[in-house]
Amino acid sequence: MTSVAVIGMQWGDEGKGKVVDLLSESAVHIARAQGGNNAGHTVVVSGKEYRFHLIPSGILYPHTRCYIGGGTVIDPKSLIGELDSLRHHGISFEKRLFISPYAHVIFPYHRILDELNEGVHSIGTTKRGIGPCYVDKVGRRGLRMADLIAQDTFRDKLAKTLQWKNLEIERLFGHKPLSLDEISDEYAAYAEQLAPFVAPVEEMLFRAGRNNEKILYEGAQGSLLDVTFGTYPFVTSSCTIAGGVCSGLGVGPSSIDRVVGVTKAYTTRVGNGPFVTELSSAELGLFPDHTAAREIGVTTGRKRRIGWFDAPLVTHTIHLNGVDTLAIMKLDILGDLDEIRICVGYKIGKKQIHTFPAMIENLALVEPIYETMPGWKCPIGSIQTFNDLPHAARAYVRRIEELCGVEVSLISVGPGREQTLWQGTFFEKEPV
Ligand code: GDP
Ligand code: IMO
Ligand code: MG
Repeated sequence: MTSVAVIGMQWGDEGKGKVVDLLSESAVHIARAQGGNNAGHTVVVSGKEYRFHLIPSGILYPHTRCYIGGGTVIDPKSLIGELDSLRHHGISFEKRLFISPYAHVIFPYHRILDELNEGVHSIGTTKRGIGPCYVDKVGRRGLRMADLIAQDTFRDKLAKTLQWKNLEIERLFGHKPLSLDEISDEYAAYAEQLAPFVAPVEEMLFRAGRNNEKILYEGAQGSLLDVTFGTYPFVTSSCTIAGGVCSGLGVGPSSIDRVVGVTKAYTTRVGNGPFVTELSSAELGLFPDHTAAREIGVTTGRKRRIGWFDAPLVTHTIHLNGVDTLAIMKLDILGDLDEIRICVGYKIGKKQIHTFPAMIENLALVEPIYETMPGWKCPIGSIQTFNDLPHAARAYVRRIEELCGVEVSLISVGPGREQTLWQGTFFEKEPV
């Protein structure tokens, strides 16, 4: 048994959903520790696309058991929408989807406050109410799934919190207050639908570990969106690095055997904040367009900002997470380029920078030191083994390994399950 955490190495959307789906074939339990429906994870099977926001991406395999942990924030309406979509696709989830009673609930006032906050201090959030919900959690006035499904006490607890939130909404922003009756009725209906899934997730995962059953921990967002170590304040409001798995699921550190870092073969970011290797508009013109490159946000439909691979950035996040191996995604997207740039170092003026800056003001001053490598100028989406990749593509992967100091065990050359090249012995897989 090897339990694995799958963590994004950049600013999210690295392809974690695809990796989790692939690894779910040989796992029993798949668990989300943090975040909410700000995440959008895509899995493509036999040409059919599935998008997950909160439900773990391992749900497509009928043998798996999936968990939404206590460190997540749940928008019940969105979650019920995901369940409907699974039913629509004929995927059963009864008795194999479990929600922690400790997870906090997103209410309409969280979404409204997210929107209003963005008007004052724009982070470029997904406006799903994630930040305001986590604020209430640490402010000790949030409501959890356990509160939502406790019919006798839910309305009173909501009344108390809503009084406070309405003050904030009215006094700070001049927005009209929200109605207790409306929210209470709407959420009572959600409670009825979600109550059957609420279960002692922490204890279940403990037992799974004891029984030596393989657990996959599905990271959401990326390490540079981490609320502590990310490009603050342009971050999300949860702990997105491997450490967050323990605090978000109530499992001990020894329950994570290995950490897989997922990185794109280049870099993307949605929302505001510094981006050292962001492409110039001329360079962007050389890339496939956003639709062809699948670089349109799954959750908000925004175009993602695109940049070259940033080795100092990924090396930094490898260190933050204790990464054992890398999965490099979307190598195929670089297939049209004559030359590919790769950032191998940072400098400010003439001075080389050896530590990733803690302050975004300093990160904004950083200039990338680039190395240029030849492109391979051909499609690689149907190649089946690493050794069959063109020489220049192999050299590019090897250079990333060298710069980041970690071996690459998975290379993705397209969105489909079958478009995956396994390398070395880490995943104990034969090349497909
Ligand atoms: P996640 O949030 O980390 O799960 O990633 P997203 O699903 O938000 O974004 C990744 C996008 O790239 C999705 O549309 C995937 O289907 C797609 N994708 C994943 N791996 C590959 C790949 O190797 N090549 C191509 N072309 N697309 C990929
Ligand atoms: P997955 O799991 C990419 C970004 C938002 C914004 C910042 C704060 O699909 O990789 P929030 O709504 O969380 O308060 O927004 O974080 N963001 C993501 N970017 N992928 C994600 O998730 C993201 N989740 C949040 O764009 O910049
Ligand atoms: Mg995503």
